[in-house]
Amino acid sequence: MPRMPLIAGNWKMNETTKEAVGLSQSISFQFERNFDEVEVAVCPPFTALKSVRNVFDFDRSPVKLGAQDVFWEEEGAYTGAISPHMLEEMPCEYCIVGHSERREYFHETDEDVNRKVRALLAHQISPIMCCGENLEVRDGGDACAFVVDQVRKGLAGLDAADIRRCVVAYEPIWAIGTGRAATPEQAEEVCSAIRATLAEMGSADTAEEVRILYGGSMKPTNAEEFLNMPDIDGGLIGGASLDADAFARIVKVAEGCRQ
Ligand code: PGA
Repeated sequence: MPRMPLIAGNWKMNETTKEAVGLSQSISFQFERNFDEVEVAVCPPFTALKSVRNVFDFDRSPVKLGAQDVFWEEEGAYTGAISPHMLEEMPCEYCIVGHSERREYFHETDEDVNRKVRALLAHQISPIMCCGENLEVRDGGDACAFVVDQVRKGLAGLDAADIRRCVVAYEPIWAIGTGRAATPEQAEEVCSAIRATLAEMGSADTAEEVRILYGGSMKPTNAEEFLNMPDIDGGLIGGASLDADAFARIVKVAEGCRQ
């Protein structure tokens, strides 16, 4: 069965609750109909999750909800942390883990990412596990090996059934928020290496089912060339997801690529 593309918006540390309600209403307005060809999700900050959920529920919108991070413990003395159980209550269908900004500014390791992935799966939330190399690694010619290692560690110990429930997002760090996207060929090369790794870790069938997204300066004008690549099944969109119109145009491109 062909993979259903996923277009997910990562709002990062943007949008107060009030602003998030406005943005989600605009997004909901853009997507009044159901999508048969594409799955759409947005990932607002924690503080806006419930309000955005309420907007989508009220509008009976098909847009799904994701968080941007999670802690792996269930509850307890972890000041400032949010548990998978709390996200389940929203409810969130997705949660980003291991974004390069979390790895860089909050010192998240592959082992942390792995614990988060497992905790989410235990709560029926699909992780969107991010991976990606910096410019030094890219220029050294080691991008594929570096990313494959992150995927192996991030999904370590998962059986094939659990791997199937994950989404992997390949986001080269040098392309995030810079306006300088990878070329579709560069992105495809790494995404296909990720799929081969998933086949080794799970099975060939598992690897065929997992969605692999590209992220890094994806916008309406360059989305098509990425989404036409055989191993790229959608996008994790930062900047362009804060503009309902641009975000909707990327979804339309994804629908067009499926026809
Ligand atoms: P960008 O961000 O689209 O603004 O480059 C992507 C991301 O960090 O997920």
